[in-house]
Amino acid sequence: MAITTCVFDAYGTLFDVSAAARQAAESPGGEKLAEHWPQLAADWRAKQLQYSWLRAITGDHTDFWTVTQDGLDWALEAQGLDGDAALRDRLLALYWQLQAYPEVPQMLTRLKENGFATAILSNGSPDMLAGAVQSAGLEEVLDDVLSVESVGIFKPAPQVYDMVLQRFGVAKNHVLFVSSNGWDAGAAAAYGFATVWVNRAGEPVDRLPGRPDHILNDLATIPELARG
Ligand code: LAC
Repeated sequence: MAITTCVFDAYGTLFDVSAAARQAAESPGGEKLAEHWPQLAADWRAKQLQYSWLRAITGDHTDFWTVTQDGLDWALEAQGLDGDAALRDRLLALYWQLQAYPEVPQMLTRLKENGFATAILSNGSPDMLAGAVQSAGLEEVLDDVLSVESVGIFKPAPQVYDMVLQRFGVAKNHVLFVSSNGWDAGAAAAYGFATVWVNRAGEPVDRLPGRPDHILNDLATIPELARG
């Protein structure tokens, strides 16, 4: 079935979530992160996601900025860095200006040139997403930025994926959903989207009911894949 609409997860897919900890380690005053930043970045991401899933299960929703801060606080304490308020502030500020992966601007430009609708569908709160999209210069190549805040529950709740159908008026099988999160790609596949899992780290496929249709190392060939 022909794809008309390409929808992307944000954090980890278009934007490099480990960049905040890496940049903080490389900037003046970041010496104390030199050894710690890879584990800090991994813990921060893992706790941020766990807290989003737990809040979806319990119905205790808050926005993604709150779970991002909660995850960071856990990760800083695990590294013995929880007393450093300036470091915390620096890491959080960098999260609003995450770098896009290098192939992202050209990939989205090519999708637009080929007539596809493009969007982000993310757990991120609207202001966080606006900051990241702006700092990566992607405003002109995205038709919309959809935040779970419109439905008040995090992925992989199906109400989140429903937002794409409502916004673009398309059937599920005309949507190509792209995520670097295996659980997100799996859930979107079970929902009925055509899916790509971007597996930059060469991880095993998640053992979930839905399996992604395609597995890529990066985003560069998405336009060819969407054209079919
Ligand atoms: C997002 C997270 C899951 O952008 O990466 O929705």
